[in-house]
Amino acid sequence: MKPLGVALLAACAWSAQAAEGDAARGRALVASREQGLCLLCHAAPIAEQRQQGNLAPDLAGVASRLTPQQLRQRMTEPRAGSMMPVFGPTAGLQHVGERWRDKPIFDAQQLEDVLAYLQSLK
Ligand code: HEC
Repeated sequence: MKPLGVALLAACAWSAQAAEGDAARGRALVASREQGLCLLCHAAPIAEQRQQGNLAPDLAGVASRLTPQQLRQRMTEPRAGSMMPVFGPTAGLQHVGERWRDKPIFDAQQLEDVLAYLQSLK
């Protein structure tokens, strides 16, 4: 099986551990300077964070551009040539540094929370 197929299966098994996402917790993760780091590259409608990135598309309105399925894929599948990090499980990924192997940035619940927040950005 190709690595991406493995990654997709791993992502399904992994998400099955989590309860339904909570958009408020997801917003806090997106705003976080310690964990999500989304605002390093993206802007988002999070007014209290003054410093926002302009290296990546503004996340405002992202849910009208991408379906829930596309949002999930964008968060968990690597895309060649993109600096957008992978936030799902690392199984099936190649060239993952020793220190980061089997240590996803978000746990399964945090990923669901962030997805719930992104889906609210219409
Ligand atoms: C190191 C920079 C970087 C970080 C950190 C980062 N992203 Fe991205 N992201 C990108 C880039 C560049 C793109 C556009 C290219 C692509 O889609 O791969 C992107 C694309 C996306 C897209 C698709 C947007 C669209 O309009 O198509 C979503 C959704 C997204 N990122 C969410 C997030 C979230 C949520 C976080 C934090 C948990 C995050 N990103 C962290 C760089 C980053």
